[in-house]
Amino acid sequence: MGSFRYEPAAVEVRCHENKHIIEMLSLRTKELLSKMSWSVDMQETFKSKKGTIFYGAPLLILLCVPRKEEWRTINLLDCGLAAQNMFLVAYQEGMGSCFIGFACFLNQDPKLLIQLGVPEDHEVIAPMIFGYPAENPRSKPREVKILKWIE
Ligand SMILES: Cc1cc2nc3c(=O)[nH]c(=O)nc-3n(C[C@H](O)[C@H](O)[C@H](O)COP(=O)(O)O)c2cc1C
Repeated sequence: MGSFRYEPAAVEVRCHENKHIIEMLSLRTKELLSKMSWSVDMQETFKSKKGTIFYGAPLLILLCVPRKEEWRTINLLDCGLAAQNMFLVAYQEGMGSCFIGFACFLNQDPKLLIQLGVPEDHEVIAPMIFGYPAENPRSKPREVKILKWIE
């Protein structure tokens, strides 16, 4: 998981393996999401105690960066690159992973982030879950569209 360090990033990492903490973060994320306007189906999902934002994954990693407006674009890129490195290494190690953008709404609860060990002047950019997959479905076929090939 140290693969993110191969990316010259302003990235801070917070890892959570405690299933009660991950479950609490799932409930809080749903609470924050339910305050926004969504389709009826999504509203139901967010109101329900069932189902979890993190799919019961045993490991949650939050990539965080300093809240600095002038560096935001670079910090976002750093986080994306670091996340991709971690996803690729996880895959190589036989793990499954998923980016959980919904959990960025936890930024609306700064007190909770501090409890999680996120520095006060940082924000969560890339929440990621990892675990050993129960199944290995084939990836969907992807169409690669080249607009114009110039020789
Ligand atoms: C930036 C980003 C945020 C995502 N956030 C979520 C999320 O909050 N919850 C979720 O289940 N999947 C999330 N995903 C995963 C996508 O829903 C999707 O499963 C993944 O990109 C694979 O795409 P595919 O369904 O085309 O194979 C996110 C993906 C990206 C790139």
